[in-house]
Amino acid sequence: MKFFIDTANLDEIKEANALGILDGVTTNPSLMAKDGVTGQNNILKRYVDICEIVDGDVSAEVISTDFAGIVKEGEHLAALHENIVVKVPMIKDGVKALKHFSDNGIRTNCTLVFSAGQAILAAKAGATYVSPFIGRIDDITWDGVGLIAQMVEIYANYGYQTEILAASIRSPLHIVSCAELGADVVTAPLKAILGLLNHPLTDIGLEKFLADYRKGNS
Ligand code: G3P
Repeated sequence: MKFFIDTANLDEIKEANALGILDGVTTNPSLMAKDGVTGQNNILKRYVDICEIVDGDVSAEVISTDFAGIVKEGEHLAALHENIVVKVPMIKDGVKALKHFSDNGIRTNCTLVFSAGQAILAAKAGATYVSPFIGRIDDITWDGVGLIAQMVEIYANYGYQTEILAASIRSPLHIVSCAELGADVVTAPLKAILGLLNHPLTDIGLEKFLADYRKGNS
């Protein structure tokens, strides 16, 4: 399973990258705004800065919602750096644009996916990645992890090549559940990634090993 970090914050990206387990980055307009990155030029510069830190796919989201606008914007984003994957919303013109990008060798991430039906459309349109937002589904008391299970089954039925990129991850448990089901990628905040490290028995065991070493060497 590939690990992406879901942030526009360069320090967080550097920290995750330094762990040596980072395969890519996802961003969105809200994450850019949260990090104080506003205005087209600053946003484009941030994408390039991220691409120069991480040797992996970096999702850059279009703002247009019409076919011509999505295509123009997506081509511009894709030309910024070879790591860029164009993030396209799951809307009618977005599906058309996914097919256009797929036919023209531009890699894509279909975002804002909340149902198996939408996931089928993304795969049929040739999206490179599809992003089901599992945390936001849980937020409305539906089953986000259940959607991953459904998608894994459907994609396997037809050999769809689109990679399932579990997004809107809220916890380490979400990451483990996605791994159990065979999601291709998870994109998670740094806190959820670092949360995977934690186990009280590790802390207790390490404390004892170090104490015993000190006893034998004092
Ligand atoms: O990758 C999509 C993700 O950023 C959405 O996460 O936490 O805003 O639901 P969240």
